[in-house]
Amino acid sequence: MQQNFLRYNFESNLEYLNDMSWLTKTLSSSLGRKVIMSLTGLFLIIFLLVHLIGNLQLLKDDGGQAFNIYAKFMTTNGLIKVSSYLLYATFLIHIVYSIILTRVNRSARPSSYAYSKPSGSSSLSSRNMGILGTVIFIFLVIHLQNFWYQMKFGSMPMTSYGGMEIKDLYRVVAEAFSQWWYVVVYVTAMVFLAFHLSHGFQSAFQTLGINHKKYTPFIQKVGLAYSIVIPGLFALIPIYMFFTCNS
Ligand code: HEM
Repeated sequence: MQQNFLRYNFESNLEYLNDMSWLTKTLSSSLGRKVIMSLTGLFLIIFLLVHLIGNLQLLKDDGGQAFNIYAKFMTTNGLIKVSSYLLYATFLIHIVYSIILTRVNRSARPSSYAYSKPSGSSSLSSRNMGILGTVIFIFLVIHLQNFWYQMKFGSMPMTSYGGMEIKDLYRVVAEAFSQWWYVVVYVTAMVFLAFHLSHGFQSAFQTLGINHKKYTPFIQKVGLAYSIVIPGLFALIPIYMFFTCNS
């Protein structure tokens, strides 16, 4: 009886270890890493759209009321807080895996050639995803320090609507974008984001095996439109605020 129990335990442990090694093998294989990059990239693409819709409220001519109420909701709602942790983890995984993939690709490249001619079919963006991603990462650090850190840990100006006291994040953003060099940093970063997305969007679908005569051209068109419209609207916010807040 006890022997049977021990054997059962041993076998189920073995099965568990086999499952684990399958999972770790998949996650550390080249394809597994690319799949992770694609899935996290697609999640971040959706985040950008949601983030943009929220930020477009900065363009409302209401002294920042709609934006401040939205920001309060985003920082106090329990479900959104949990989604935020998922978002930070996704950014982290996307960045860490991009570093691993770049290193592995670099070490797999024949070192005898000092210069390898880029293939005719690869785009400028696809060959420079690492550089584009690095610039976006630097932007993200500056961006989070400017707004997110201030909102969470800084001493914020306050405002009140109908007797309700809330943090005046609009004023912090407006003050930042009243300085021309902030606007230049943001607009430049959005150009890099546009190029990063222009390759990343369609490449994510390709890695996930969605490669079809009929659908791929459509995905490529949506990807191109997305990579122009989303960063374009993000860039419009600091430009618009610079002119309206300084007039
Ligand atoms: C004009 C462009 C943008 C403006 C005005 C803007 C504004 C803001 C503001 C005000 C916050 C703080 C909100 C809060 O703590 O509730 C924030 C957070 C954040 N932003 Fe942006 N943003 C812009 C573009 C971007 C871009 C392009 C990215 C990504 C590449 C990005 C990524 C983030 C992230 C990850 C957070 C933290 C979100 C969270 O805590 O849930 N932002 N942004």
